[in-house]
Amino acid sequence: MKKLFIYYSYSGNGELVAQKMQEKGYDIRKVETIKKLPKSFFFAMMSGGFQAGVKMKAKLKEFNFDVSSYDEVVIGSPIWNGRFPPAINTVLTKVNFEGKELSFVFYSGSGEGKSALKRVNKEYPNSKVLFLKQPKDYPEELKKLD
Ligand SMILES: Cc1cc2nc3c(=O)[nH]c(=O)nc-3n(C[C@H](O)[C@H](O)[C@H](O)COP(=O)(O)O)c2cc1C
Repeated sequence: MKKLFIYYSYSGNGELVAQKMQEKGYDIRKVETIKKLPKSFFFAMMSGGFQAGVKMKAKLKEFNFDVSSYDEVVIGSPIWNGRFPPAINTVLTKVNFEGKELSFVFYSGSGEGKSALKRVNKEYPNSKVLFLKQPKDYPEELKKLD
């Protein structure tokens, strides 16, 4: 079984998840965007929240979208405005998950992401979904990955 963890992290919570997934034997690929959010927290929330709300896709730094050699793929994503951030929207449109066991690990301030969950249930009905509350503040949440 070859296993891959693809993730995006804007403020570091996803890095803790990636570390744990690496310990569990997953290969790791980090998604990075070319553009960053504004430096001000307020404008970052406004801009990021808007982009997620309109299902915007982000231009990524060099990224290998080929997952053909893997049996299982897990996507790690923060929740923005209840939804997927643009970086993960790009991954979801460019990676061919056909025939793969696909699941999602979300990390968010509240430990929820209702619209993202709805979208996964609709578009990837066979996928498992796990929500973690802010692993940087609640490291015990990572035990859910055991
Ligand atoms: C633009 C933006 C929008 C966010 N929207 C939500 C939200 O709707 N619900 C929530 O619980 N957390 C929200 N958060 C918080 C992040 O989901 C949370 O801090 C997450 O752990 C970040 O992961 P990261 O540090 O790997 O980027 C938002 C953060 C940003 C930057």
